[in-house]
Amino acid sequence: MTAWHSFDIRADDRPAATILPLGEGAEIPEALRARVDIACRAASFDPKPGHWLDILGTDEADRLILIGLAKTETAGRWRSVGGHVVEAMKALRLETARLPQAAELALADDYAELLEGIFLHSFRLEQGRGKPIPGLLSGTLLVAPSDATLLDRARAATDPINRARAWVEQPANLLTPAVFADEAEAALRAHGVTVRQLGPAELIDIGAGGILAVAAGSENEPRLVIAEWRGAPDRDGWDAALIGKGLTFDAGGLNLKPRPGIAKMKFDMAGAAAALGALETIASRRAPKNIIAVIPMSENNIDGKAFRPGDVIRSLSGLTIDVQDTDAEGRIVLADAITYAIRHYDPAFIVDIATLTGSMMGTLHEEFAGLFTADDELANLLRDAGEQSQEHLWRMPLVAAQDYLVDSPVADVSNLGAPGWFGAGAGSAVAGAKFIERFAKERRWAHLDIAGTGWATRRTTRSAPGATGFGVALLNRWVDLIA
Ligand code: BES
Ligand code: MN
Ligand code: ZN
Repeated sequence: MTAWHSFDIRADDRPAATILPLGEGAEIPEALRARVDIACRAASFDPKPGHWLDILGTDEADRLILIGLAKTETAGRWRSVGGHVVEAMKALRLETARLPQAAELALADDYAELLEGIFLHSFRLEQGRGKPIPGLLSGTLLVAPSDATLLDRARAATDPINRARAWVEQPANLLTPAVFADEAEAALRAHGVTVRQLGPAELIDIGAGGILAVAAGSENEPRLVIAEWRGAPDRDGWDAALIGKGLTFDAGGLNLKPRPGIAKMKFDMAGAAAALGALETIASRRAPKNIIAVIPMSENNIDGKAFRPGDVIRSLSGLTIDVQDTDAEGRIVLADAITYAIRHYDPAFIVDIATLTGSMMGTLHEEFAGLFTADDELANLLRDAGEQSQEHLWRMPLVAAQDYLVDSPVADVSNLGAPGWFGAGAGSAVAGAKFIERFAKERRWAHLDIAGTGWATRRTTRSAPGATGFGVALLNRWVDLIA
């Protein structure tokens, strides 16, 4: 299993230096008040976010580290404070520290969010090197045994997010579609999810021409992973299907990507990782919903067997696709996965999540993912879920007047948008959504384009720079909101 580092948080009464979040919204434990007061005055310490004060004592257990809090009560604030705890411990090379009891700080849910922040901000994927990097890879934080339940909650919420992030950061030579499928299967089975995998032979049998065309140029075989969580066994039918784009590497195929972008394309399975992470969370908390994930996993590479621009391929649905650009591959594999979900499960809702277009990244950047659906109620549910999990969605237009964007003169649908007067329209995020819509037609369906949010180039309230796991918490929240 792709392994990652994060701080070890344990329920343990052993003495250690104390980390104390200081500022509005958290109480100062009675026994520490006088000392905090004197030290803050002596050092003129202004407890702002990102500032800390290290107060040495008679021994290590008497040491006190104050962590500044933001003044305003903004959502996601405690997760960010968790990040500041991690950053302070790393800067101070502090291997072990303890947090006061939740009750002493007068915190409850916020305490769990703080612990989540520590798990998320301390995430780090290492590939192994001759000499270990200097610094702190894994610190230990002790919490009171009476807070063990809050700790368990934080761990259950963040393990699937960190697993998703580890998959996204894992290089494509190590995480091939076959490896990814096996690891997804192992991670989900552990929580009682039923998992099946289709390989090339089965994909040929069923006629998944889209996935097969995209995968044709790679030595690494594609997979279609189908995972079932039956949390409401007494009810027939399936509440939702989660579909995630799982390109373990996207070279662009014959429409090869240019130099700067290509090295980052191991991340092109962030949608798959998010859908799998959401299903893991849903199963681990035994949510009373019937949810499936259908995940196409493939590479988009270049060789003599690769599919070509101008090829017309037959998708699983029977619709033919005019391949105008081999780099618009995500929509093609998603189309087959959606068809599979519709045929075998007839789900009430379908949500796909994908690093689909560079255009989305250039439009919404890293704090908002694009939300495409013609279904207002579904749009609102997804947006609400995103507000609750602090993964923001921005709704984009998706209307019938834009149908022409993916019309083709030779086939049912073109995988490239209409260029428009200046030629800039072809790669649009809207055209990507319009393509997928053809395959989800007549269904309650939404598409999330996470090209910009799947990877953070700077620290956010949720994580340090790197893979974000965007979508795991959002989709987990969303399944609770659907009827
Ligand atoms: N995986 C990319 C999208 C992408 C590009 C994400 C850059 C993040 C950064 C996708 O498969 C792709 O190549 N899309 C093309 C579509 C175009 C050829 C229609 C794009 O966005 O340029
Ligand atoms: Mn591509
Ligand atoms: Zn791609």
